[in-house]
Amino acid sequence: MTGSIPVAVLGASGRMGRELIRGIAAASDLTLVGALASPGGAALGRDAGVFAGVGVLGVAIGADRGAALKSARVALDFTLGPAVAENLAACRERGCAVLVGATGLDAAARDLIQAASRDIAVLEAGNTSVAVHVMAQLVQTAARLLPEDFDIDVFEVHHRGKRDLPSGTALQLAAAAKAGRDLSGRSGRAIGHAGLRAGSVVGEHTVSFSGPGERLELTHRSQDRSAFASGALLAARWLAGRRPGRYTMADVLGRG
Ligand SMILES: NC(=O)c1ccc[n+]([C@@H]2O[C@H](COP(=O)([O-])OP(=O)(O)OC[C@H]3O[C@@H](n4cnc5c(N)ncnc54)[C@H](OP(=O)(O)O)[C@@H]3O)[C@@H](O)[C@H]2O)c1
Repeated sequence: MTGSIPVAVLGASGRMGRELIRGIAAASDLTLVGALASPGGAALGRDAGVFAGVGVLGVAIGADRGAALKSARVALDFTLGPAVAENLAACRERGCAVLVGATGLDAAARDLIQAASRDIAVLEAGNTSVAVHVMAQLVQTAARLLPEDFDIDVFEVHHRGKRDLPSGTALQLAAAAKAGRDLSGRSGRAIGHAGLRAGSVVGEHTVSFSGPGERLELTHRSQDRSAFASGALLAARWLAGRRPGRYTMADVLGRG
């Protein structure tokens, strides 16, 4: 389609990948041009649209990164942490901008993101929901305004299939709280974390500010993955043609 942004979905057979493909199929300004899954994955060879439940899109799910990225201007990486390094290297080699939506990244992967961002636009977002972005700003503000004897704790619940703990979102919210406290130059006890992996919960995060005799809680509940997908597609549009650099959802959505 003329003027449409060619997008590759890495992790196309996964829960997020299928949600993204449904979103791309419904968008007039985005075109799916590549779909990657793991070597030996059950979806290899299937049409990505059919696998996502939106009918034939003419893009087969494959395990070859070069083929998946061949015509792409933007890649959306929603694979699992260990695959991110290979995805980044392939995007860098092809000059393809990438949204790293995968979580559970180790220090080596973060170093690779930094290195790749010299040559391509890399946006790292452990949570692409617009509301979570706003929540992080509220958390930072609350941490700055509340007295230092308020304890700060992050509690999260996710489905039993989620591998990383803490979640990328929990880490992001803890960083926002820390930024709020650092800004005011105060030091309290370390920010606490607790998490539960159970059932089919898409994702819930609460940040508690517990003081003497009172508690403030900020909670975000994901009801389905469409909120992550729509934020990721906003990021895809923003990334297309973006100059090399390291970006976050704050760059896409504004810092408020
Ligand atoms: N940023 C956000 O807002 C957000 C929201 C939700 C989830 N996430 C993160 O997104 C990631 C995916 O979550 P999910 O729930 O969709 O997981 P999932 O259902 O397990 O899907 C994982 C996908 O990655 C593929 N994959 C795994 N290893 C691979 C490899 N070595 N090479 C190529 N592809 C590989 C899988 O392919 P096969 O099916 O062939 O194994 C599958 O398509 C996780 O890191 C999760 O934490 C981010």
